[in-house]
Amino acid sequence: MSARDAGGKVRMHVDPSEKGWIRLSIVVLIVFAIAISVAGFMLGIQVPTDQVRVDPRTVLEEAPWSEPGVREITPGEEYKVYIVAQHPVFTPNAIEVPAGAKVTFYVTSIDVQHGFKIDDTNVNFMVIPGQVSTLTTTFDDPTPEGEPLKFICTEYCGASHHFMSGEITVTE
Ligand code: CUA
Repeated sequence: MSARDAGGKVRMHVDPSEKGWIRLSIVVLIVFAIAISVAGFMLGIQVPTDQVRVDPRTVLEEAPWSEPGVREITPGEEYKVYIVAQHPVFTPNAIEVPAGAKVTFYVTSIDVQHGFKIDDTNVNFMVIPGQVSTLTTTFDDPTPEGEPLKFICTEYCGASHHFMSGEITVTE
């Protein structure tokens, strides 16, 4: 409903309870914006990006995917890990990186959609054919002798999905 006030301007009548809900929805939006900012900038929670596109049919013919594995960029400080997912294996499925180093994972699939989740970390993303999923993390503590961190596929990808896993050994 609308009405004209003394000055001739159109005024909309808004029920007080409706005003309350409008205010509440604005507050909720602000709270979400703050939560996303805190997660992204302070807690380091990142969304995997799809900026790198590849052709899943030919990707294994090109570097670095022709030789997936760990690349030491700066010893003890920076590592890149290239992993190929193909039902029901990750290649490589045993990785070794030092504690405290910046480790960036690059994972792609050459068949169907897979998942990549490392136990006891917030590394958990989808692996989609045609894209390279990327995430950077740091392992603070070395893994105990004989107890590497497990990484698993979290998307149903075929009959042997539950076997699709690998291990990360974090050294001193
Ligand atoms: Cu790969 Cu499930």
